[in-house]
Amino acid sequence: MKRRVRASAPAKVILFGEHFVVFGKRALATAVNRRLVVEVSEKDGNGRSGKGGYHIKIENIPTFGLEVDLFRGEKGEKGEEGEEGGRGEALPYKDYGEATKAIAYVKESIKYLEESYGINREGGGVEIEIKSEIPLSAGLGSSAATCVATVAALKEFFGWGVGGGEGDLEADLETDLEAVREDAHRVELAVQGAASPVDTAISTYGGSVLVEQGEVKRLRLAGLTGLNLLVGCVGCLPLSRGTSDFGLKTKKIVEQVKARKETFKRIFDSLLEASEETTAEAVAALRERNFVRLGALMNINHGLLDAIGVVPRRLSELAKVSQELGALGAKVTGAGGLDEMGGVGSVLVLPGAVGRGKIKTAMEIAGALVLDVKTGGEGLKIEEKFDYNS
Ligand code: MEV
Repeated sequence: MKRRVRASAPAKVILFGEHFVVFGKRALATAVNRRLVVEVSEKDGNGRSGKGGYHIKIENIPTFGLEVDLFRGEKGEKGEEGEEGGRGEALPYKDYGEATKAIAYVKESIKYLEESYGINREGGGVEIEIKSEIPLSAGLGSSAATCVATVAALKEFFGWGVGGGEGDLEADLETDLEAVREDAHRVELAVQGAASPVDTAISTYGGSVLVEQGEVKRLRLAGLTGLNLLVGCVGCLPLSRGTSDFGLKTKKIVEQVKARKETFKRIFDSLLEASEETTAEAVAALRERNFVRLGALMNINHGLLDAIGVVPRRLSELAKVSQELGALGAKVTGAGGLDEMGGVGSVLVLPGAVGRGKIKTAMEIAGALVLDVKTGGEGLKIEEKFDYNS
């Protein structure tokens, strides 16, 4: 009998306030209906050397797939379990080559959970399979979804799971979810050096969040459930760059914005205030389900992002062509991009009643990967299964 734990977490889009949130201003973000699934199970045959280990298989994250074995300890080191086995202590994972950079978040989750919760797989190997509908480097929170789903699946597998307490189940669930969110945020921080709490909060809880004065508040907004949007992603980084580079991209852009803010202090003060007001008005527009007003505010948000220098030519083109073809609003979403880094990034488009198809085609002609997304939806989901045949 084989035990499997499956956890899935949603992607997110930032609707308003990215970058400005770094300086304490409001931001509004929501989950979207694209998910990343992590499945943890006991490993058949216990690995390459017949011993324990973490075998990680990443399938179909849009644009790549890879498979890699991780063993604790250095190659050839004698552990209690043999040649390449672990010694029951957390060792840094290193020297696994360029390919494993792409699983930086999974490795860090394992390391973090070993150190913080004492999980280990001395009883045998563990298989970790990842399937994703969330493209990398698209500003859709793929790294947060990876952290949340990996942490949750491993915690559940090793008995630190959600809903494991003996008291009030709902209260337990809430506490355990909050622990997953916090753990996942720490893992993301450890990999990237900087990460806002927004992405991991959405991947954990789903729905929408408003960040106000640095505090992440879960929020229900009439207009933000089931809203159909388009996301156009361009210039995906080649896989050989590894996920750490995706994290670094955001870090580099955020640093550049900070430097520009130092140079143009008073201008930035006005831009920050304008963004604060734009997000507040957007929340009001969503309460009233006034999508024409919402779209106009998205266009203003895009202009503010351009003013702080995070709109490379290719993203500018996608936003402009969408606006021209009748989109109610079109804006860069997430960190944006830099021309010198290939203009990698995404735009978020609110199409009007007509013209959606034309906008999609125009963005595709401009070289974008275009995704239809629906806002809102469930956060982390965990299920456990037993295969009686294996
Ligand atoms: C990146 O998705 C959003 C930024 O605002 C950075 C952050 O909030 O950590 C650019």
